Amino acid sequence: MTSSRIPGFYKLSPKERLDIIAEFSGISEEERRFLEKSYLTTEQADKMVENVVGSFPIPLGFAANFLINGKDYIIPMATEEPSVIAAASNAAKISRVRGGIKSEATTPVMIGQIHLSGVSNQDEAEEKILSEKDNIIETCNSCDSTLVSLGGGAKGLEIRKLGKTMVVHLLVDCRDAMGANAVNTMAERIAPLLEELSGGKAVLRILSNLAVHRLVKSSAVFDKEELGGEEIVDAIVDVSEIAKTDIYRASTHNKGVMNGISALVLATGNDTRAVEAGVHSYAGKGESYIPVTSFSKNSEGDLVGELEVPMAVGIVGGATKIHPVAKTNLKVLGISSAAELAEIAGAVGLCQNFAALKALTSEGIQKGHMKLHARKIESEKMGTSSGLNNSDPNEKL
Ligand code: MEV
Repeated sequence: MTSSRIPGFYKLSPKERLDIIAEFSGISEEERRFLEKSYLTTEQADKMVENVVGSFPIPLGFAANFLINGKDYIIPMATEEPSVIAAASNAAKISRVRGGIKSEATTPVMIGQIHLSGVSNQDEAEEKILSEKDNIIETCNSCDSTLVSLGGGAKGLEIRKLGKTMVVHLLVDCRDAMGANAVNTMAERIAPLLEELSGGKAVLRILSNLAVHRLVKSSAVFDKEELGGEEIVDAIVDVSEIAKTDIYRASTHNKGVMNGISALVLATGNDTRAVEAGVHSYAGKGESYIPVTSFSKNSEGDLVGELEVPMAVGIVGGATKIHPVAKTNLKVLGISSAAELAEIAGAVGLCQNFAALKALTSEGIQKGHMKLHARKIESEKMGTSSGLNNSDPNEKL
């Protein structure tokens, strides 16, 4: 089985869904059990954080129907919020009609910042630092021979002057790692040399989550007939425009994007806070905070959705290698690089946002939620399983 287009996935039992996921991804019996039980032993948790007493479960579901850059994906999503996974699956289904989602990640370059205070002559300091650029980069790279052997490592530097503070940005290609450890180690290693060259004091030595060099751009065409007509296309374009001028709406609009992205980021053992900080600061880096997606109508009357966000995710190191469920989720995705994971994250964010705007401009978000609620109450009365996960609040999958 190679297609992620699975009609009626939502109607199946969790076991039947797992059968499909196992067949699609070729996971082992043991990995299948990791997904089924979805737990972390206390011993495993104890290796991850401090003062452990156990772990805190969150529902894990899989969004079907994703076709990204011509490849099918079934996407793990860890979230406590109903409707999110159903909505993502539904949006992905609609996007397939026009060829799925296109997504492109840039080279995975993170920024390590060294803030220097008390530099008496910033121009002179800048000149000295730039004249030592090769030495600085070499010193940084001596911290991580593995990263360098994989083609990554420190590649360049930038200097910013912010009033009394001077900031050196190390540009580090993190390859398949999220990169926080590598970047922070380099920033700490190079700080004494920068102090010497600038005559200032390195008051901060840490990466920036505003990963402007590590972006993903995703786009999709959503067929007008699938949407229920050109009025819906127009309505989605209109409400996406509102988010450009109303920061209160932009916040909620972007929250809808993050419903999808954070669920995938969490399910793959990545740092949700880092990605969220990056996306929101990227949205706010211009004159005001704006939506990270935009929608327009093409000459055929179809809806075109576009997204651009920083996406600092990895597939090696940290929880992605310790957490058995996160590891298995990465295997189900069948990816070979952090850039591919970033491309999936962009696609999920775009679809999630599209699904929310579609619901808001048609039946409203509450109707979907209320349907879920009604079904839950009904099934509780009948003493059957709630089927909550089986529901698509807006449409059939
Ligand atoms: C709810 O979790 C997300 C939405 O509020 C997003 C939006 O309003 O665009 C529905």
